[in-house]
Amino acid sequence: MEIKPSGKKKDLLERYAYRFGAMRVRTMSHLGLDIFETEREGCWSTDIDGRKILDALALQGVFNLGRRHPAIVAAMKKGLEYLDLGNNFLMSEEQLTLADKLAATTPGNINCAFFSSTGSEAVDLALKIARGYSGRSGIISANECYHGITGFALSTNSNPDYTEPFGPLMPGFSHVPFGDIDALRKEISKDTAAVIFEPMIAEAGLLIPPDDFFSNVRELCDKNDTLLIIDEVVTGLGRTGKFWAIEHSKGVVPDIMISAKGLTAGMYPMAATMFTEEVADFFLTYPYCHYSSTGGSDLGCVVASAMIDIVNRPEFLQSINEKGKRLANGYAQLMKNHPSILESYGQIGMHTVLRLADPAGGFRMNRYLAEEGIFALLATNNTAAIRIQPPFIVSEKEIDQIIDALDAALKKMKIKE
Ligand SMILES: Cc1ncc(COP(=O)(O)O)c(C=O)c1O
Repeated sequence: MEIKPSGKKKDLLERYAYRFGAMRVRTMSHLGLDIFETEREGCWSTDIDGRKILDALALQGVFNLGRRHPAIVAAMKKGLEYLDLGNNFLMSEEQLTLADKLAATTPGNINCAFFSSTGSEAVDLALKIARGYSGRSGIISANECYHGITGFALSTNSNPDYTEPFGPLMPGFSHVPFGDIDALRKEISKDTAAVIFEPMIAEAGLLIPPDDFFSNVRELCDKNDTLLIIDEVVTGLGRTGKFWAIEHSKGVVPDIMISAKGLTAGMYPMAATMFTEEVADFFLTYPYCHYSSTGGSDLGCVVASAMIDIVNRPEFLQSINEKGKRLANGYAQLMKNHPSILESYGQIGMHTVLRLADPAGGFRMNRYLAEEGIFALLATNNTAAIRIQPPFIVSEKEIDQIIDALDAALKKMKIKE
């Protein structure tokens, strides 16, 4: 379907370009994603021009439970009867309940937490704790990583598209290719405060490291008294078919873990930096070195706790794996239908990515999928890839709709070659 804005939408787009930047509107229009959402429910939202859009991205985990999940709306409404943000100078039972629930899910003795509003803030705190706890400055991250936009988090990023205008970044940060244990062995030293990795990197086309990678990383960290930080902002909370993606690396216990996005259940900002009891000792010396006026709000804690109650059940995690398999079966068929266009796919649970032969294929697929009424997103650190990460509540029929739309989009790739 050709998308041509008119009437009210055209007017809104012009005003939006003026207020928020013309380039942003131009890029989104190019991708077919110049959408003003009105109604939103389940896996669907409606553009202001009445067009229905099926969500195949879940905002990288924010909408893991779809839009306005009834149990989350109910929990929030109940919370609104007696709660507000909460007073972060004081104590909060809602924070305690959420911390208890998270501690019941995390590996080893990652039993302590600090809550904030965004993943970037939670990453910043993880890196601050690592430096404060160790008294060292070195931080190693992956070349292909994305951990956020704030000072410490941005300094982990090696992609100039994100960092170039803001240099010099913080000193002490270095990068290694993801999954390359020899490169990490060369880089890590007694000056390294922490190594920070995602369990797998969808942003780069779903890089999945060798099976023994994280146990080897853990060993190298232990040898150097370096903290291991695992960023589960995208991969955590069920996306890969386990509650935390690091569980795929049996027996590996990080020192610090980070969660955000899905923790909001798409309804209220929430992020968590979770750490071991040993690391928590840092706060005995510096109890007030990190503070957020509005982060970790009582309402947000109620919402996040309700989300965990839904997702952290064996049958729910099983349904994620089954839906992942249905997607993978569809991709296998697409590979047969479009052998010269679709090079490969990556899949673990409902964390999936299609990799195209065309190095900029992600851009074109984004546009063609939007024309088919599907919202997906190219991988920003690998423009040959498009991320397909639908909400967990997607139905079999909707999965088939996504596969059909991918088929139609891949056909268009062929025609325009
Ligand atoms: C792996 C990862 N970590 C951290 C962040 C930052 O999260 P936020 O956008 O909530 O600041 C992101 C955001 O996309 C992310 O993908």
